[in-house]
Amino acid sequence: MTRLLGYRRPHPGTQPDYDYPPYASTQKRCPRQPLVVAPQTLSEITGPLFGYDAVQPVHSDLTRQHKGEPIGERIVVSGRVLDENGKPVAGTLVEIWQANAAGRYPHASDQHNAPLDPNFSGAGRAITDAQGRYRFITIRPGEYPWRNHHNAWRPAHIHFSLFGPAFLTRMITQMYFPGDPLLPYDPMFGCIANEAARNRLVSVFDWESTIPEQALGYRFDIVLRGREETPMERLP
Ligand SMILES: [Fe+2]
Repeated sequence: MTRLLGYRRPHPGTQPDYDYPPYASTQKRCPRQPLVVAPQTLSEITGPLFGYDAVQPVHSDLTRQHKGEPIGERIVVSGRVLDENGKPVAGTLVEIWQANAAGRYPHASDQHNAPLDPNFSGAGRAITDAQGRYRFITIRPGEYPWRNHHNAWRPAHIHFSLFGPAFLTRMITQMYFPGDPLLPYDPMFGCIANEAARNRLVSVFDWESTIPEQALGYRFDIVLRGREETPMERLP
């Protein structure tokens, strides 16, 4: 019988704490019993597979999805998707969603009184190339208030969803911007105890991908599993 190679489990402290009192929602949804460590079998380390034919180039340029251009500073967000051995993950779906430049989502549950932008939906997707690279053109998202505690503001961020090659490589996370003064005050960022792991969520300013007179570039590499894994967002 073929021996299945599982994924290495992350080091303690490199993923968000399930129970982190400063991040109020974790109190409502964190497990009350010790976690059961599930064995990795064929169904966890393989599939699902998707057809990606429907992904078009316009889907990765969030500034070209409407008649006019969105308000805001144009940026390029690019990087590589890697597996736990540092090898590129080719042909994998990368999806993003984000607030507009004023810090507002076009969603019914976002009633923040910042303006909506009719030229910005804030959602994009791309497929990685043979070197595991992806690239989006978008606008820099605004910070926005949330009601976690008094005067709580989320640092500027872009949400990422990746499937990777298997159920256990599925990842939802957030990318932040270097030097954001709100980062030390954000419990969603701070609930990852290990500083080095936390900082894997902060993109790097990147001259290489900057487009002269058009857009600044930020690089965000994502590792799907293993000891260098990009921290996952804890969702309800
Ligand atoms: Fe958000």
